[in-house]
Amino acid sequence: MTIYDFDQVISRKNSACAKWDAAPFIFGEEDIIPMWVADMDVPVAQPITEAIKKRAEHEFYGYPIPLPESTADAVVQRMKRKYDWEIDPRWIVLTPGVVPALNAAVKAYTTPGDNVIHQDPVYYPFWSVIQNNGCQVANNALHLSGDRYQIDFDDLQSKFHPLQQMVPLPQRTRMMILCNPHNPVGRVWTRDELMQMGEIVIGNGAIMVSDEIHCELLFKGHQHIPFATLSPEFAQNSLICMAASKTFNLAGLDASIIIIPNRKLRDRFNETKKGMMPSGSIFGVVALEAAFNYGDEWLEQFLSYMQGNLDCLMTYFEKHIPKIKVIKPEGTYLIWLDCRELGLNSNELMTFMNHEARVGLDHGFVFGPSGVGFERINIACPRSLLETALDRIRQAVAAL
Ligand SMILES: Cc1ncc(COP(=O)(O)O)c(C=O)c1O
Repeated sequence: MTIYDFDQVISRKNSACAKWDAAPFIFGEEDIIPMWVADMDVPVAQPITEAIKKRAEHEFYGYPIPLPESTADAVVQRMKRKYDWEIDPRWIVLTPGVVPALNAAVKAYTTPGDNVIHQDPVYYPFWSVIQNNGCQVANNALHLSGDRYQIDFDDLQSKFHPLQQMVPLPQRTRMMILCNPHNPVGRVWTRDELMQMGEIVIGNGAIMVSDEIHCELLFKGHQHIPFATLSPEFAQNSLICMAASKTFNLAGLDASIIIIPNRKLRDRFNETKKGMMPSGSIFGVVALEAAFNYGDEWLEQFLSYMQGNLDCLMTYFEKHIPKIKVIKPEGTYLIWLDCRELGLNSNELMTFMNHEARVGLDHGFVFGPSGVGFERINIACPRSLLETALDRIRQAVAAL
């Protein structure tokens, strides 16, 4: 058994990594601890490094085939093992990322002017994915009830029956982009919630594009349910976007898997993305396969370390910075912080975190209007780094 040491601090500076090397420019501060983009500061699982090295030794790096059989097999087996979901390897489409896939999906299944639903505060590229393709955001904003985010199902239903001065408008809501587990609020949607969303969205003839990239990053007691497993009808009207990239920290290797059970939807998707993006990279495919086949030992230890980081963060805020409330996550390593009690507006809060605390966070307002007054912190790092960041926030809050 390999024991991973997630406590070791390894410098990533000057490795052309966005998280560290772009941080001084992004936050306007040289001495900043970057805790923004969803990227981990811990080394990857050994079998992944070994598989990449082995492939690199075969010194031919030409065009790959879209999806090697052994990689498809690793995906099929993982879906069966994790979710008891039997998928046909032909349903799998490899893309270089989930965001390019979301773009292709909006392009493939909508026409400019259509409405696409999402739930703010939400992973900010969702806004541009919809708007850059000429569609309008139909925002089914989540609402915070106590310390847990909930879905407004009446509002979701209303997206399909818009009324203007009592006159029903033609229904042009074609798609919903779902985020499950949800970034940034950390909810892992339950079977009941998914069923209700599906009944409304699919029931009204729209397509569900389910971004499940964080599906293996779960805290204890939570279970991920792929949307397409809920019913054959849901499967035939949905795209499930997954990857090894978030779970195993492989975002720089460009490989994601989009599972599309419906042949017509799949053909349309493939046709749309043709010439716009490659399938993936040769190293991405190798890493994905190694991660899915041999990564579980690492993942188990990583998730246990994340639980420790979360406990540390929650205790710290409760004890030392009670004005900032932690929204307890069910999944992801991105923690949503309610900073409204600090009494700062969006600009002031951003300046405060960047220049007073010198901690590089994702500012809530970029996730949509419901994110104003919140900040998102990435805790996928050695605990000592997290503690230093928390200390910086504490000192800055004390000086307010
Ligand atoms: C919900 C969600 N979708 C997609 C992505 C990025 O996907 P990719 O790098 O595969 O384009 C992220 C990254 O943080 C994310 O949080």
